[in-house]
Amino acid sequence: MCGIVGYTGGKSVVDILIDGLRQLEYRGYDSSGVAVKCGEDIKVYKAEGKLENLCKVLSPYKDELKTATCGIGHIRWATHGAPTVLNAHPHTCTCGRLALVHNGIIENYKEIREKLEKEGCTFRSQTDTEVAAHLVAKKYAQTKDLTEAVRLATKELEGAYALCVMHNDYKNTIVATKRNAPLLVGVGDGEFFAASDVPAIIKYTNRAMYLNDNEIVTLTPEKMVLINSDGKEIPQKIETLPWEPVALSKRGYKHFMLKEIHEQPDVIRNILVGKLHAPDEPIVLNEVKLNKDTLKNLNRIQIIACGTSLHAAMVGKYLIENFCGIAVDVEASSEYIYRKTVTDSHTLVIGVSQSGETADTLTAIRQAKEKGSHALIITNRPDSAMARLADSLIPVNAGIEVSVAATKSYTAQLMAFYLLALYMAEVKNSVDKSTLTSLKSELMLLPQKVERILAHTENIQKCARAYASTKDFIYIARGINFPTALEGALKLKEISYINATGYPAGELKHGPIAMLDETMPVLSILMRGCVYEKLLSNSEEAKARNARMIALTNSDDEKLDDLFDYIIRVPEVQELFSPVIAMVPLQLLAYYIAEFLGKDVDQPRNLAKSVTVE
Ligand code: AGP
Repeated sequence: MCGIVGYTGGKSVVDILIDGLRQLEYRGYDSSGVAVKCGEDIKVYKAEGKLENLCKVLSPYKDELKTATCGIGHIRWATHGAPTVLNAHPHTCTCGRLALVHNGIIENYKEIREKLEKEGCTFRSQTDTEVAAHLVAKKYAQTKDLTEAVRLATKELEGAYALCVMHNDYKNTIVATKRNAPLLVGVGDGEFFAASDVPAIIKYTNRAMYLNDNEIVTLTPEKMVLINSDGKEIPQKIETLPWEPVALSKRGYKHFMLKEIHEQPDVIRNILVGKLHAPDEPIVLNEVKLNKDTLKNLNRIQIIACGTSLHAAMVGKYLIENFCGIAVDVEASSEYIYRKTVTDSHTLVIGVSQSGETADTLTAIRQAKEKGSHALIITNRPDSAMARLADSLIPVNAGIEVSVAATKSYTAQLMAFYLLALYMAEVKNSVDKSTLTSLKSELMLLPQKVERILAHTENIQKCARAYASTKDFIYIARGINFPTALEGALKLKEISYINATGYPAGELKHGPIAMLDETMPVLSILMRGCVYEKLLSNSEEAKARNARMIALTNSDDEKLDDLFDYIIRVPEVQELFSPVIAMVPLQLLAYYIAEFLGKDVDQPRNLAKSVTVE
């Protein structure tokens, strides 16, 4: 979960590198650095903490570096070694004539380091990355060819890497390669960019080539040469990126998170386009290859994901079991990959991932495919490694989500599950036509209901101010909204650092109720439906222990006024669709609490948007 950039061309490179790193800050922001070719030398500048610290380090050299037109940059989420300047990238070889930046984890770095130290290499950092710099330099001393040196060195690396490398002997050359980590090359006129992700290059070009594992590209302003791991030149697959630069602006909102919360009505409309035209028409999922026979032969479905995507997966379980009657298991990817799973050719495995690059989920999907299962991927990045593994694909089309805290992508994932569950019900004929029509009508009404919530946030802001100083927070719900409680708690946790936990309301009396007193807020997601009364009595149990009660509800039952200190009301909605409606106020509550506390809402400490290492 680091970000790397590279540029070679006719423009001043420093500003391009800094701008690229700024667009990749969501991938990590513990430290940053650049290496630029300035005359005969490669000059390296690094700083701890946020990117503006690197800008301060660079500022005295602005004039001197103005003529530099080739360079690489890095923004770090620390994996090996504390976030210090010494551990910041770029890393260089012993003599400093080679510089390298890396995203990923080199799993066999210890044994390589021991071998290189015995050969006289002097290591300065505690990072795995520095091993790659010394190894490439060693190969370069033998081959005097930077591309060949990178090719030979990476054959000895195990794990995940996306690398950009420069050497003093080359005026304006960057060599880049990748394995199990994202890397794309932006193609300009007389200039080339290398980057971990689209936002770093979209401002300059929308023409790009995604590298495949073990491919090596050599970039100079004049040309790009692509070779495979055998050193053989291979064709270049240049495509036009489907992204607009406007996605990268806050458009008047204080934070990207608030902007992305407010984009949700359009995100819901957007995912329905081309898939659900009218309630009485069938759902169209062109990239889902699940016909009647496939579904008939399924004996189970496993949904695998992490974090917020895992919570969306849990809602998906309720929907698929409810509409299709197929048993569904949901599991965190990091657990799935380390146990003996019962997955086979009669299993449908659904991978859910906003980034499509989460290492744990990628590994899980690869394992499931090796066991013969059909892999259906739900992702916001159809250009991602996970999308490329898919046998079936549902792109959620939520647009670039810059804020580390997932909001619109969660809602889009929920919508993907509604569409998938209804699609499978139609294929299996497991739900009668009139019920399907009514369900699809409800689905199409969701954007307006979310808009009504977003139009009246004063009460949520008031509630946020009242509870911002709390140290703990409990969210309770039942049924299809239990994942909503988990996701609401995660939102609050990850951007305000408050210790928030979601529980199934029925579990309170089995332990957590011991924590309740007048200092503990309990938020009850009290949506009308089959578990409403039960949840109401759980809320009364909490109230009886003097907890500070908040209700998120679509009920106008007057007795709630006596039970709850705060009531956040949302529009009426069928229980099965209530997770979409209930989540928006919880996202706003978390946002306003974090904003009130002055937290770094879009880039919370210790987090990264895409966890591309296990
Ligand atoms: C969500 O707010 C977090 N940023 C995090 O839990 C995220 O959902 C998780 O890392 C999974 O990411 P993915 O959806 O890109 O796989």
